[in-house]
Amino acid sequence: MAAPSAFLLVTTILVALGAGNVIDAFDPNPLQDFCVADNESKVRVNGVPCKDPATVVPEDFLFVGADKPGGARSERYGYSSLPVRIPGLNTLGVSHARVDVAPGGVFPPHYHPRAAETALLLEGSSVYFGFLDSGNRLFAKVLREGDVFAVPQGLVHFVLNNGSAPAVIYATLTSQSPGMVLLADALFSAAVPLPMELLARTLHTDRKTVEEIRANFEGRSWSSVFSMAGPGSNEPC
Ligand SMILES: *[C@@H]1O[C@H](CO)[C@@H](O)[C@H](O)[C@H]1NC(C)=O
Ligand SMILES: *[C@@H]1O[C@H](CO)[C@@H](O)[C@H](O)[C@H]1NC(C)=O
Repeated sequence: MAAPSAFLLVTTILVALGAGNVIDAFDPNPLQDFCVADNESKVRVNGVPCKDPATVVPEDFLFVGADKPGGARSERYGYSSLPVRIPGLNTLGVSHARVDVAPGGVFPPHYHPRAAETALLLEGSSVYFGFLDSGNRLFAKVLREGDVFAVPQGLVHFVLNNGSAPAVIYATLTSQSPGMVLLADALFSAAVPLPMELLARTLHTDRKTVEEIRANFEGRSWSSVFSMAGPGSNEPC
């Protein structure tokens, strides 16, 4: 009789440890109900210090203005990305953004090193949304209003608005600080340019072609594409 219950105990412990590991792989667990970001504090921690809980008010959990486009804009790509900044979500391992993509516009291939994402299409049609897995397999769908598409953590994904109406997407990310790497900008907009030889060989082309492509990226510093999110806030999808 002892054997099965010992087995059960060991199994339970292993499952519990496994679950703990899964959770530990993401933002740390909070030690309190909430830690409303005190963005005036001069203290520097791994994250943003908490306001005194006694001074927390409902407004700390509210964001007003996600009914309109806003935030960082790219004319060239035809998108804008509005971080939905909610101080009350500080340390809680989640962030949100409203993303608008004009007809014919794109949110070019990028990835978030620290977050999985779900994208809800609020408005628009023929919105081609997809990601590539680490074996370069494409998973993509044409989204209709009300569809939600998921992107696993760290995988390259993109949006192409192939419809005639503006697309409005609400993105939810599983990190307070998801990070964002735009692939083309990583190659062509680095402050210290990557060597021509490297790019030519990487892209199976010649230096002249690389120069032409690089010229298209000139004047596009990283911050012109994407302004770094402030404390307790988040980043575009
Ligand atoms: C702190 O957050 C509040 C509320 O979101 C905002 O109005 C204020 O500008 C922020 N201050 C700084 C220094 O970021
Ligand atoms: C975009 O729309 C055109 C015209 O309807 C269609 O032929 C094409 O397959 C669409 N592309 C994607 C990626 O959905």
